[in-house]
Amino acid sequence: MSGLAVGLPNWLPGDDLPKGVEFADEELQFFADHVQPVLEANCFKCHGTTNFKGELSLASREGILSGGESGAAVDLNDPGASLLLEAINYASYEMPPTGKMSPQDIATLTEWVQRGLPMPAKVTIADPGHHAPEVNDETRAFWSFQPVKRPEVPEVDDAEWRKNPIDAFVLSKLQSAGLSPNSTADPQLLYRRLHYDLLGLPPHVEQVEAFARAYEADPEQAWTAAIDELLESPHYGEHWAKYWLDLVRYAETNSFERDNPKPFVWRYRDYVIRAFNADKPYDQFVREQLAGDEQDHVTTESLIATGYYRLGLWDDEPADPLLAYYDGLDDIVATTSQAFLGLTMNCARCHDHKLDPIPQADYYRLVAFFRNVRHYGQRSEASVQEASVRSIASPEEEQQFAAEKAEWEQTTRELRARLDAVEERIQPQLAGGEIDDFKADSVRL
Ligand code: HEC
Ligand code: HEC
Repeated sequence: MSGLAVGLPNWLPGDDLPKGVEFADEELQFFADHVQPVLEANCFKCHGTTNFKGELSLASREGILSGGESGAAVDLNDPGASLLLEAINYASYEMPPTGKMSPQDIATLTEWVQRGLPMPAKVTIADPGHHAPEVNDETRAFWSFQPVKRPEVPEVDDAEWRKNPIDAFVLSKLQSAGLSPNSTADPQLLYRRLHYDLLGLPPHVEQVEAFARAYEADPEQAWTAAIDELLESPHYGEHWAKYWLDLVRYAETNSFERDNPKPFVWRYRDYVIRAFNADKPYDQFVREQLAGDEQDHVTTESLIATGYYRLGLWDDEPADPLLAYYDGLDDIVATTSQAFLGLTMNCARCHDHKLDPIPQADYYRLVAFFRNVRHYGQRSEASVQEASVRSIASPEEEQQFAAEKAEWEQTTRELRARLDAVEERIQPQLAGGEIDDFKADSVRL
């Protein structure tokens, strides 16, 4: 974090250097052998190429001559009166603040100033103030990047109670805390728990009773059959999709001000439900959401998966459009790194990570990767449709949809006529913005 400068010096590394200042080789050698080590050991941490305390950089001649808050640090016309020398002699400022340097180091810097500040145009300095974290063996060893290991199953004496290895972990913890296990749940309770775990809802009384009967006859068989049956249920996908939808901040509205609906976003929701119910492999699930439009075989399903990029907050008329644009990208980087990688990479929007190796540059590389994602487009619903809604169905699917639509129109004809009648009664009573709102299907809902 020390990389963030509070104020900037008059000269920055990378700025053009004044031409025509050349020094003899022996002068430059004097700098390299004697001066640079003193600066590195005592000054660059705070006046280097990334930290500019007092708005002063000592990493170039130009930086020293332009000086910091108080002006030139060295006066070439009257070297002895230079601020830099005052500072290291604790005559005005006291530099370095942690304690006066040895007389020998003070003498070295004094001689350097007296000789007219000989130094190369470009000083490559080891700046201990700040380094972008590197991805190497050492940083990879950070605890959170360690692969999950299969732990040793603890030895427990109660072989009767322990039905599978997980039980051994539970039992060993219980025993080490001086506790003993509860008695086994009765079949009714067991089945209820299974229902909540897999479907999120309680079972019907008849189901509970049927399970209890089957359990009495053959516990092992009844238990396995119940699990299989619930995993097959379409409600299994609905229940477990909720967890993923939470992770990717799914919402059916824009979560901002007017909170308008997100057109067609339910298609993404249904995609996630189908993925759980179809036992879609996780790698495919990830690839489809992040790059479903770029894979070898683009399908309707893989395109719908990229609806992932349309989730999240959407301000339809931001006061600062550029900021809103980057906030939108940040939202995608944050969600992608958190949901898929378990990393809060978005902290690196403003500074390198302190502990794990996420340089700020990598954050912007990832932002660049998502740059061509078009958000909702303009304000009105019509422009959203124009900018981003098109048919992605195959010809067969188009046919199927047309048939389904015809059927829907047939079965809902009477209901829709009643709705129209209601709207006709309401419309004359609308006022102001309501009249506009009523024009957009999604808002009218
Ligand atoms: C631990 C950080 C730190 C170190 C190390 C350090 N300085 Fe400073 N320096 C500062 C701060 C902070 C200021 C701003 C004035 C203040 O708050 O005292 C400053 C100000 C200065 C100024 C005055 C700049 C201006 O224009 O007002 C000079 C000159 C200076 N330092 C020289 C040095 C030299 C030479 C060294 C090494 C021998 C050094 N400093 C080491 C923190 C540091
Ligand atoms: C919008 C910009 C921004 C974001 C995003 C951000 N930070 Fe910071 N962070 C800063 C600034 C600015 C400072 C320096 C504050 C100061 O020096 O007064 C800072 C300071 C810090 C420091 C203190 C560093 C030190 O060496 O003293 C830590 C730790 C830190 N941030 C962690 C995080 C974490 C973790 C996240 C993500 C959850 C994060 N930051 C996200 C701007 C940001």
